[in-house]
Amino acid sequence: MYNIAIDGPAGAGKSTIAKMVAKKLDFIYVDTGAMYRAMALYFLRQGIAPQDEEQISKVCDDIQVSLEYENGEQKVLLNGENVNGLIRTEEVSMMTSDTSKYPAVRAKLLSLQQDLAKTKNVIMDGRDIGTCVLPNADLKVYLTASSAERARRRYLEQKERGIDCDLAQIEQDIIARDEQDMNREIAPLKQAEDAVYLDSSDLTIDQVVDKIIELFTACK
Ligand code: DC
Repeated sequence: MYNIAIDGPAGAGKSTIAKMVAKKLDFIYVDTGAMYRAMALYFLRQGIAPQDEEQISKVCDDIQVSLEYENGEQKVLLNGENVNGLIRTEEVSMMTSDTSKYPAVRAKLLSLQQDLAKTKNVIMDGRDIGTCVLPNADLKVYLTASSAERARRRYLEQKERGIDCDLAQIEQDIIARDEQDMNREIAPLKQAEDAVYLDSSDLTIDQVVDKIIELFTACK
């Protein structure tokens, strides 16, 4: 099985790029952020505060996250409910960053992600894929861009979805999330030693996709 790991900060274009690479290579795309988002949605619905690690760890046993694919599109199921349309708000984004630092939350998803990669050719994106989830991936890419560019992309994406938002606020949220994701104790966002660093600030989506395919072809 071939595994490609894409890590990087919020809004670097990981999911857009990974989805396109998956299509070209006929791989399965696994969006691990969506899995953490589904769990965060559950905590929000239960009215649990992000600081309440004890309660969050306790209810992890009540959560089942699974993935289904329809025409190559990943659907995240939270206890059987498709929550794709509910997990992209800024509120869920922040709750996800706040709660994905807890060991119980990470343990819940780690084996699920590793099992997926054992049986299928996958391109998986997240924060700790190259460092923790798939340390033996055939190709690891650390994809990033300036915070201003990442905020601009997230802003356009949200607007396209019909979600009202503020550019300056998005950039602030992105910086706060990066800070939290990079500085947590377990599985922080960082470039794996053997990952290729790719700054997409001045590249088009197609250029980044082509670069990743080229890197994969070279290491296959
Ligand atoms: O990639 P994303 O923006 O959908 O991720 C949402 C949050 O989930 C992110 O702020 C940190 C967390 N996350 C994580 O801790 N580990 C991953 N592999 C993927 C996401």
